[in-house]
Amino acid sequence: QDHLTEGLPLKGKKVLITAGPTHEALDPVRFLGNRSSGTMGFELAKKAADLGAEVILVSGPVNLSIEHPSVKLIRVTSAQEMYDACNEHYAETDIAICAAAVADYRPKHVAKEKMKKKKGDLHIELERNPDILLSLGEAKTHQFLVGFALETENELDNAKGKLQRKNLDAIVLNSLKDDGAGFGGATNKITFIDKNLGIKTFGLKTKPEVASDIWEEIIAAIHA
Ligand code: CTP
Ligand code: CA
Repeated sequence: QDHLTEGLPLKGKKVLITAGPTHEALDPVRFLGNRSSGTMGFELAKKAADLGAEVILVSGPVNLSIEHPSVKLIRVTSAQEMYDACNEHYAETDIAICAAAVADYRPKHVAKEKMKKKKGDLHIELERNPDILLSLGEAKTHQFLVGFALETENELDNAKGKLQRKNLDAIVLNSLKDDGAGFGGATNKITFIDKNLGIKTFGLKTKPEVASDIWEEIIAAIHA
């Protein structure tokens, strides 16, 4: 590395990041979703661009924007749209991070007109969405692939299971146990697990700080 690229360890790398929730339509005005704000994915994108990468950020519906010449933001709504966007860009990707809170299920039937209420209870039939991260793991050729895991029990074992099942190079475990960590909030507490099951635990930090920690670990793992 010469002095010009020093401090830009991701120069020449193409990075793909998913962020935010997905919205799964029930009818023209209703959807199933979750409380993900998208902040973690956007911070990871910003940091990657600052470190020299060309970034494609595929985001579900969020109240965030990003102005960086090296970040291309693709806004999607549903898991299927996120899946399609990721697959379109995966072949030329060097590092992919799935930080999105993708809905595992979607309504099996989407009503064309707004659903009217009827007597009694409503039962909505759900079908499985594609697992984006799993499909990227199966299609992996040269990519360094990172997932997130959000667990409320057996945290480490579940995260390790996802790492192996989805053919990942690393997984970031999001701990919800500590106050202020995880979804929606401004802070996160993470554990970084690499594919050799090396484990590094971090303290409660702001999401920009967590993004820096994650990139430091990924860059170290790539060079190891
Ligand atoms: N993920 C994905 N597509 C899905 C579901 C999950 O890309 N349809 C990704 C998430 O972005 C995350 C990782 O898979 O990086 C783990 O998501 P998580 O919800 O914790 O795990 P799941 O495999 O969906 O298992 P479960 O929800 O049953 O714990
Ligand atoms: Ca899930």
